This record gives sequence, C-alpha cells and structure tokens, in this order.
Amino acid sequence: MKIILATNNANKLREAREIFSPLGIDILSQKDAGISVNPEENGKTFAENALIKARAVHELVKLPVIADDSGLCVDALDGAPGVYSARYAPENLLCETLLQNMQNVPDGERTAKFVTAAVLIDENGKELCFEGVCSGTIAHERKGTNGFGYDPIFLYENVSFAELDPEQKNAVSHRGKAFRKIYDYLTQTLQEGN
Ligand code: IMP
Repeated sequence: MKIILATNNANKLREAREIFSPLGIDILSQKDAGISVNPEENGKTFAENALIKARAVHELVKLPVIADDSGLCVDALDGAPGVYSARYAPENLLCETLLQNMQNVPDGERTAKFVTAAVLIDENGKELCFEGVCSGTIAHERKGTNGFGYDPIFLYENVSFAELDPEQKNAVSHRGKAFRKIYDYLTQTLQEGN
C-alpha cells in the first residue's frame, strides 16, 4: 500500500516512515509522487489547514493521502503562535523571536503545547482527522541540535526536543501521537478487510 504524505519536509517524512513501515505502507513525498502543490493555508484551525493540504494533493493523485498541520501554542501568549507558527518569523529566527517575546515570562508560566491535526483521505475519498498533543514548557535559551523549527526551545520533561534522538521524539511528540492514531485506524480497517 502506498500513501502520499502531503509534504516535502524531510523530518516529517522520516517520522512518518518510522511509524508506518511496520504496516508495510510506503510513505511517498509529494516529490516522489511527481507533484508539486503549495496551497494557501488560510484555515483558522490546524484541522482546516491539514484538510486544505490533503485535498490539494488528493485532487491530483488518486492515492490515499496524509497531511498534517502542526504548531506551537504558548499559554502566556494566549495560544500564539498557533496556526501562525510557520509565519511567526523567518525559519532561522523562529526560536529567537519566541524567546524575545517571552523574556519577561517567569518559570512556572512558560507552559506550552505542540498540536498536530493529521488528516487521512483514504482510497475511497473518505476524510478523517486525528489530533495529537504534547505538553511542555518554553526554555530560556536554545538547547540541542537535532530536529527543526521550535525543537531547541521546547522542553519535554526538562529535555529539549532538539536534545532527543528522532525515535525518542517520535515516541512522545504531537505528530507521533496523531500519526499513530492513523496507524491504529489503518490497522483496524486492514484487519476488517481480511
Ligand atoms: P507545518 O505543520 O509544517 O505547517 O508547521 C508549522 C510550524 O510549526 C513550522 O514553522 C514548524 O517549524 C513548526 N513545527 C511543526 N512541528 C514541529 C516540531 O515537531 N518541532 C518543531 N517545530 C515544529
């Protein structure tokens, strides 16, 4: 079985391949599938944006598609950057910008969560949405060199996501949780089909 992941982000592809390979599912990037789409993510929620990305790919290739939309929601900033996480600052300045905007926020008030909405459009065109959440805190400075985006400043049990191995991050992360819900759904439907 082949599923397209509606992204060319190498980190997301690796994370998805790790999770879905035990099911014998081949995860293809948009590039692998020979398509190039970049729809405007103008939804108000993670789920709306994930649906926009999944539909844009599914319209071009009649294969099952998974799309995720994720972001970081910081309590002291009323949930910002949230769905605007990618547009909060240039990619190389995301962490510095958030640290700057939180410089007066004391320990104890630096709680945050990563959220993922992951949409599956299956081979019959049925659309399903699954959510994953990972709670943590925002550090005072960058730690670690793994990962991407806000990983160096997001502390999960006092260790930054960028200090974890990819497998360790996948085991607890927002996207890992949402993708495993899709895995469980597919496992069940594949069993029912047998
Ligand atoms: P998108 O889901 O690719 O639209 O990601 C939105 C933004 O959230 C991007 O700027 C990413 O850097 C950030 N982001 C999403 N997932 C993660 C993650 O697992 N770690 C760090 N940053 C993330």
